[in-house]
Amino acid sequence: MAAGLGTRMKSRRAKVLHEVGGSPLVSHVVRSASNLDPGGIFIVVGHQAEQVEKTVRDEIERRRSYGHGFEAQLEFVLQSEQRGTGHAVMSARERLQGRPGPLVILAGDGPMIKPETLRKLVDSHTSEQNAATLLTVEMDDPAGYGRIIRDEAGNYARGVEQKDASPEELAIREVNVSIYCFDIPSLLEALDHLDTDNVQGEYYLTDVPGIMRRSGAKVGLVLHGDSGEVLGINTRIDLAELERRLRGQKLRELMLSGVTIVDPASTYIHPEVEIGQDTIIHPSVIIEGFSRIGSDCVIQSWTRLRDVEIGDGVTVRNSTVIEESAVHDRASIGPFARLRMHADIGERAAIGNFVEVKKSKIGRGTKASHLTYLGDATLGDKVNIGAGTVTCNYDGERKHETVIEDGAKIGSDTMLVAPVRVGRNSVTGAGSVITRDIPPDSLAVGVPAKVKKKLH
Ligand code: UD1
Ligand code: CA
Repeated sequence: MAAGLGTRMKSRRAKVLHEVGGSPLVSHVVRSASNLDPGGIFIVVGHQAEQVEKTVRDEIERRRSYGHGFEAQLEFVLQSEQRGTGHAVMSARERLQGRPGPLVILAGDGPMIKPETLRKLVDSHTSEQNAATLLTVEMDDPAGYGRIIRDEAGNYARGVEQKDASPEELAIREVNVSIYCFDIPSLLEALDHLDTDNVQGEYYLTDVPGIMRRSGAKVGLVLHGDSGEVLGINTRIDLAELERRLRGQKLRELMLSGVTIVDPASTYIHPEVEIGQDTIIHPSVIIEGFSRIGSDCVIQSWTRLRDVEIGDGVTVRNSTVIEESAVHDRASIGPFARLRMHADIGERAAIGNFVEVKKSKIGRGTKASHLTYLGDATLGDKVNIGAGTVTCNYDGERKHETVIEDGAKIGSDTMLVAPVRVGRNSVTGAGSVITRDIPPDSLAVGVPAKVKKKLH
């Protein structure tokens, strides 16, 4: 169910599109559901239906491109008017008819649910042959949730929403978490008896199990121990709280696997990030997306890494930003460096302060230590780039490539007007503007640069 606006978010964006751990809420839920290997996943959309559908599909594609893909038969079902969770399920009525059960129903705003918990719910539902089975938890502060009313025998009697509850009912700590398993024919039958006779004037899905009970069908409860896992997001406070939990889990997991996190309070690492043994993460570091970092690395403070691939023994110095790029073993990056759009930094290379590398391959042992822009360039091994070098890759209309072959030494303040190639072991003078290819073993100086002599 992902059709609601989420009024309490006070947002122009549908609630399920808000993110935790770098992924939209609804995608977390879809991923967890896909783990059950279901015959299909129906996503009920309504508010901003197109964006929700696009977001879910894009997110799956993004995951796939980083090798974290999953298979899911998705079908989007439109609930054009949002008249409650019961009504959301009614919109899928035709699709459900004649399908073999059981049917799991999840709220799109409960992103932490683990696949194993869903499996536990389905197993209990199947083995007890229930018409409906509800996942419940006991909360210290159940405010906002629908309460579960049990009969004297401890069996499910009915549910009551917070807004409809009496003071005695409000004192109940066992709550509905909007995670259900249903027998489809029994569900469809009960939906016919739903009404909107409640404070919110909505069709409540929570009334369905009560209707079943009254008709003599069996309703089961699975009381789950971990209330953190089933928290629903209603406000931005809930969103921040969930982010905090998710982050805490990830940091603990990393530390237990041998990563040093100097200050967990200021370290933000997304759930899918992988980090090798004995890597040290200094305070105030953010590592996002599908980043993979090897072992024995040092990631210094105020650094942000997104979708990076970093080898072993790499040092990333203070205040560096790396996005969608690779850094190979024992290279050193920063301080104050920026790598983006498939920069690829070779083994033992050094990229220093105020150096930007975009869509460029940097060879082994090559150094660009200060104040440089390298864009659309291919640099060989053991190249040295002097301070203030710029690959002038853009002519106002198109981007062009620069090639600098092995062992070349680019003098300070050299402008390389692309497309251009500097041959093996060649040298450019300080302040030269290179507009033509330089052959190997040559010295080029001047504006525009002329080849002065053959070296060696
Ligand atoms: C719901 C439950 C409540 C439970 C809580 C757990 C009902 C009536 N109440 O309340 O018992 O404790 O979840 O988090 O079900 N949605 C639609 N179409 C609609 C309305 C909602 O698709 O017409 C979707 C929303 O996008 C959301 C989910 O259903 O993802 C839950 O809706 P929400 O309004 O957040 O329900 P709660 O008030 O939290
Ligand atoms: Ca909710």
